Amino acid sequence: MALGKAFLLFGPPGSGKGTQSQLLREKLGFSHLSTGDLLRKHLKNETELGKKARVYMDAGELVPDEVVIGMVQDSLSDFPDNKDFVLDGFPRTRDQAIALDALLNDLNTEVGTCMFLDVETDVLKQRLVGRRVCKSCSTSYHVDFAPSKQEKVCDICQGEVVQRRDDSEEVIMERLIQYEKKTAPLKEYYKQKGILVVLKGENKPDVVFQDVLKIVS
Ligand code: AP5
Repeated sequence: MALGKAFLLFGPPGSGKGTQSQLLREKLGFSHLSTGDLLRKHLKNETELGKKARVYMDAGELVPDEVVIGMVQDSLSDFPDNKDFVLDGFPRTRDQAIALDALLNDLNTEVGTCMFLDVETDVLKQRLVGRRVCKSCSTSYHVDFAPSKQEKVCDICQGEVVQRRDDSEEVIMERLIQYEKKTAPLKEYYKQKGILVVLKGENKPDVVFQDVLKIVS
């Protein structure tokens, strides 16, 4: 038995990785692994890993590779056999990409396609500053482009809708710098493997999703 194929949603902070992953989960029943969501769960539960990660996340820096790779390894072993899945926000460094190839190889699978969501920096900043998320179910909103029906109340679960700690202007700037320095070079890694596809991430979410669907189906 083997896991299904891994599809990567890759791109800068605010490019829509979480939004497209949520659609894949809802519409196609994909398994979904977001390292950002997993880390935030550790923060919320005040685990040892969470305490270690908080310092990096609050500063907009990447959490050390060994912490994130270990977390992904644990999660992948719980994924169902023969079902394709999406990785959102992982890998973010060359070492993480190499570790992922090895982990997937051990599970008799591989990366199918790396979908790069291409979005201009000014648009990214606008999206991140206005983003709000539900504290309970993590549904994402935007104060201007996709507001919740009732202010600060989640449409789905009625949980409290708040701003993420790392969505302050100062931390957003640092996240973008870290992305350019450590993560953007991975585009070349997947291009050389012949599995990089560039999507127009500035289109409306449902239009981007049509492009995603063409790739995963
Ligand atoms: P993570 O939570 O993964 O944050 P990120 O990569 O910065 O990405 P975001 O969640 O901010 O954006 P997104 O691309 O998912 O966009 P979204 O769909 O929400 O990571 C947080 C931190 O954890 C990192 O800084 C790091 O410290 C740590 N971490 C995580 N993974 C790690 C790893 N592998 N290694 C080391 N450290 C790691 O959309 C954003 C907004 O735009 C929303 O309001 C949404 O409604 C709106 N929007 C989305 N799509 C569209 C569209 N097409 N048109 C208009 N608006 C849109």
